Amino acid sequence: MQDRPGLRSRALFRDERDVIAPGQQRIALLSQLALASGQGASVTDVDGNTYLDFFAGVAVASLGHAHPRYVAAVEAQLRRISVGSFTTESRLRLLRLIARLAPGDLGRTQLYSGGAEAVEAAFRLAMSYTGKYEIVGFWGGFHGKTAGVMGLIGDESKHGWGPLPGGRFSVPYPDCYRCPFKLSYPDCALACVDFARESITRTTSGAVAAIIVEPMQGTAGNVVPPPEFLPAIRDLAHEIGAVLIADEMITGFGRTGRWFGCNHTGVVPDVMTVGKGMGNGFPISGLISTDEIVAATPFARPSASSSSYGGNPLAAAAALATLETIVDDGLVEHAARVGARMLDGLRDMQERYPFIGDVRGVGLLIGLDLVRDRATKEPLGREVTERIFTEALRRGLLMMGYFPRVRINPPLTITQEQADAGLAILEEVFAAVAVEVRAT
Ligand SMILES: Cc1ncc(COP(=O)(O)O)c(C=O)c1O
Repeated sequence: MQDRPGLRSRALFRDERDVIAPGQQRIALLSQLALASGQGASVTDVDGNTYLDFFAGVAVASLGHAHPRYVAAVEAQLRRISVGSFTTESRLRLLRLIARLAPGDLGRTQLYSGGAEAVEAAFRLAMSYTGKYEIVGFWGGFHGKTAGVMGLIGDESKHGWGPLPGGRFSVPYPDCYRCPFKLSYPDCALACVDFARESITRTTSGAVAAIIVEPMQGTAGNVVPPPEFLPAIRDLAHEIGAVLIADEMITGFGRTGRWFGCNHTGVVPDVMTVGKGMGNGFPISGLISTDEIVAATPFARPSASSSSYGGNPLAAAAALATLETIVDDGLVEHAARVGARMLDGLRDMQERYPFIGDVRGVGLLIGLDLVRDRATKEPLGREVTERIFTEALRRGLLMMGYFPRVRINPPLTITQEQADAGLAILEEVFAAVAVEVRAT
């Protein structure tokens, strides 16, 4: 077997250790990869090794790498103008296209550069519209790492960052494989929603501006809630006079085999936040809402909701090329088709490998739960999951498999053959570690 990553990769990685601050993404640290290029759903390192990409920069590379139409559009725009907040033709086309694709009457977009920045803007919008100031999120949720959203990280990764800003509350998400109430769907009758209602009454000061929810949770492990959940949370938000923010940063623009995660349940949120795959790597994000909501002040005052880079000509051209390509190439339907077959393949594997406790997903947002024992659901230990990651890498597959909650989110352009090849590698890896798992 080839040495992946190779010697040049490892040497560059080592040299960078002297000048880079720690705290990079775990996948970069574990892989020690130095990349030279990418093409579609594969990337090539500086030693010339290629890897199938089941990672896509955490669901960012929706079109995959170096897509010709994307490259041409960004190159052409760079030669014209890159900077400034003035109207451009491509931005107008982008905003019109977003308004056409977004559900219901969500027809007004404001653009930013990063996901957390857009989520914070959505909070300011919700505060402007409701005159209230508290935010409710979910266990397992993730909306970024800036101060205003950090309190809504729904896991222990926020430990050590206190004191966190006040006015942020979290309630359990229907992560049904690991139900916090130890109940089973559908017998639970969505006890988590009743709990959320009660918890909001008892823990907030009664001034909730927004409930923010990921239609499917990405960081938690590509978790898919039951279909009744989102409608129930929308109703709860409206019951308490709050807006519903759907954070579609990962689930937006085709990832789940529909245009937005919300489309799976017909819920039209009051505000959607988008980013990641929308720009295929160009840092662009945004919020989308209605005429009525975006008119609220202070959000609507001149310069009150703008930023230095938001919606600049280069960003707009990159996002327009990305979204037009997703439309023209039918990538949403493609994601649904390829994703469904990948799920079938993984469910077959689940029958062969007892340590695959759960397989779930929609479109090309797929998650696995690896367990020591299916009865207790005790998660597989880090030493085994990190081996799964490195064994996959050695065989030419890059994926977020270093935690027991494996996340699979390849570019929407991945071909069926590439998806099959990736799963074949995964099967080989699972077979290789099966003995080890039995021994632990
Ligand atoms: C659902 C969701 N919202 C927001 C963010 C934050 O985005 P960014 O890293 O661009 O700030 C992320 C990032 O992973 C995310 O998954």
